[in-house]
Amino acid sequence: DASDIEKGTYPHFMLKEIDEQPFVMRKIIQEYQDEHDDIKLDEDIRKAMKECDRVYIIAAGTSYHAGLIGKEFLEKIAEVPTEVHVASEFSYNFPLLSEKPLFVFISQSGETADLRSVLVETNKLGHPALTITNVPGSTLSRESNYTMHLHAGPEIAVASTKAYTAQMAVLAILAVDTARAKGLTLDFDPMKELGIVSSAMEALCDQKELFDQIARDYLSTTRNCFFIGRGLDYYVGLEGALKLKEISYIQAEGFAGGELKHGTIALIEDGTPVIALATQEHVNSSIRSNVQEVITRGANDCIISLEGLDREGDAFVIPKVHSLLTPLVSVLPLQLISYYAALHRDCDVDKPRNLAKSVTVE
Ligand code: AGP
Repeated sequence: DASDIEKGTYPHFMLKEIDEQPFVMRKIIQEYQDEHDDIKLDEDIRKAMKECDRVYIIAAGTSYHAGLIGKEFLEKIAEVPTEVHVASEFSYNFPLLSEKPLFVFISQSGETADLRSVLVETNKLGHPALTITNVPGSTLSRESNYTMHLHAGPEIAVASTKAYTAQMAVLAILAVDTARAKGLTLDFDPMKELGIVSSAMEALCDQKELFDQIARDYLSTTRNCFFIGRGLDYYVGLEGALKLKEISYIQAEGFAGGELKHGTIALIEDGTPVIALATQEHVNSSIRSNVQEVITRGANDCIISLEGLDREGDAFVIPKVHSLLTPLVSVLPLQLISYYAALHRDCDVDKPRNLAKSVTVE
């Protein structure tokens, strides 16, 4: 049937979509670059970004996790104050809005009902909205003022992979464009850096056996798993935990390294898998002390680090990329580990129980 054709030689859409990420990066570079190597962006979006005094990112699930990284980009690169909100909570926890808010809806499908109800509300209030989506003709795209396209190609697997990395890439481009529009001096060429990301992703996709082995060693029988990280790595850990939960049904939690001692460390026992990310130089020694703390309590540690920050015994070292863009690469091992864990546990990778690809009910 049609779905077999689309899957090609891949056993699952998820694996195919993981593998497509290097190409999606190149496609994004191509689509967002003009003939003078400048960023190609709707002038109205540029103006809206420049004029707003605060960005409110609204999203759910994996797209929310991309939003957390997006906040770092917008604040660190473009100096735009940014808040990130879970769509379903927004209406009850409605924040005090700034004078000139810009709402940014991040949604792979563009159909998520929780986001739509926020958009209906912000439209009523007359606030401008930008939707970042993989489906430009979608409801959210049609009902907001501006759209940025992810260019990731159709994502079929319920577990989002390539849309997440595409969201972060597009947010990085948006942040750099805004910085330039504001006249900030910037030593960051997003297209060059995304090219490096693409190559790093490719190198990772060529090492699947290793992640299969990690999944087998750490996750084939465990009941739970922890992901820890600091800074950007913490947010990637949240995404790693979500991925693992949704397709392998292992209870997984992402934690900020420093929060462990405030409670969660009580759960660590002999053999508990702890996957730690160590890609951020300024927190490298502190995340490594957190790993020592869990090892002392018997945890089975698996450290994924960045070239240059690696230490003996790390399970995997990702190729060097710009420190702000590490999430785009460090998430791949987590996607692959989740994929193989689900396989080893005989789970339906592309269609996990109880989940729908796009959640069109509130
Ligand atoms: C991701 O793996 C999930 N299936 C889910 O969290 C998803 O990201 C969420 O429902 C948001 O969907 P959207 O991006 O289409 O709005």
